[in-house]
Amino acid sequence: MVDDRETKAALDVLQSGILTDASYKGGKNVQEFERKLAGLLGVKHAVAVNSGTAALQTSLMAYNIKQGDEVILPAFTFEATANVVIACSAKPVFADIQSDYTIDPEDIKRKITKRTKAIIPVHLYGYPVDLDEIREIAQANSVPVIEDAAESLGAEYKGRQTGNTNDAGCFSLYATKVITSGEGGAISTNDDEMADKLRMMRNHGMRDGYDTRILGYNYRLPEMAAALACVQMDKLLGFIEARRRNAAVLNDAIAGLPGVSMRQTKTDRKNIFYLYTIHVDGQRDKLHDMLRAKGIGCSVYWRTPVNRMELYRNLGFADLDLPHVYDAVDRVLSLPVSPAVTPEEIDYIATELVAALKEV
Ligand SMILES: Cc1ncc(COP(=O)(O)O)c(C=O)c1O
Repeated sequence: MVDDRETKAALDVLQSGILTDASYKGGKNVQEFERKLAGLLGVKHAVAVNSGTAALQTSLMAYNIKQGDEVILPAFTFEATANVVIACSAKPVFADIQSDYTIDPEDIKRKITKRTKAIIPVHLYGYPVDLDEIREIAQANSVPVIEDAAESLGAEYKGRQTGNTNDAGCFSLYATKVITSGEGGAISTNDDEMADKLRMMRNHGMRDGYDTRILGYNYRLPEMAAALACVQMDKLLGFIEARRRNAAVLNDAIAGLPGVSMRQTKTDRKNIFYLYTIHVDGQRDKLHDMLRAKGIGCSVYWRTPVNRMELYRNLGFADLDLPHVYDAVDRVLSLPVSPAVTPEEIDYIATELVAALKEV
């Protein structure tokens, strides 16, 4: 949600005449956004880039992931999580999920090999994964955990923010994300060397002018986008509060109803409800269509697991044994809980949801 504050911030940048800054540190607004994000997460460094995809790709590059390496990730995620592995010429190893849609640590244990060079858990829908278990496995195998936190800005696991890490946390500022700059992203880390590499990698591997030292691209966040991100950072806690309020109304509405559940409920973590997603035992698609007919913008994320997308089918990943992933794609349904949803609207959604659930 943007208002006059973002408009003013964008205008200020336009009037300053400095639309971007290709120095190692980045522009004034980039640096300000990085300070705010690092402060929220409680990390030493936040490095702004121009998408969540760039955040993931540069993180893999910084760990020197290359041909012959394997990276473990869930098959139930947005394609970007896997595409960046392919971009590094490495092999994605798809793991199954648990009933709350987070990557299954037991399946990571089964799939980890000497070739595994990173694990990318995804804090799906704004709900943190089992970080302790995953870090334990990663440490035992000396591999980094690259958190895909594209959907989880502000979420907490055992009192710590997602992306509060010595390895890497990757955030997205895409238009529909928890906060936005239109397009944008960032990486968080406590590792000085990692942050240094990432700052170079977002800028053709340069540190002091035209002195390319390592491979990098143009993944710089423009100043206008960074200015929007700064304003949005100030609104983040309010946004999360609104999401939680709306989610609580839906939680109450479905409590005790047969055939439907909200599965992201472990009490050692705090969901930000980027997506409020229910598990529908019965006719999910019929429920989806009924709610849509009532003007409720529900959606399915996702109907196809990544390993069954055309690219990955062609690479031979279609027949993997991932029973919980295949169940999830047929059962999940996300309902609107964004800060734009008013109290009257969420009551309407709750009423219509209950009525429709009784019918399907
Ligand atoms: C789980 C996940 N990973 C990665 C991304 C990629 O982020 P972006 O669209 O900013 O490149 C997204 C969002 O689009 C996402 O939801």
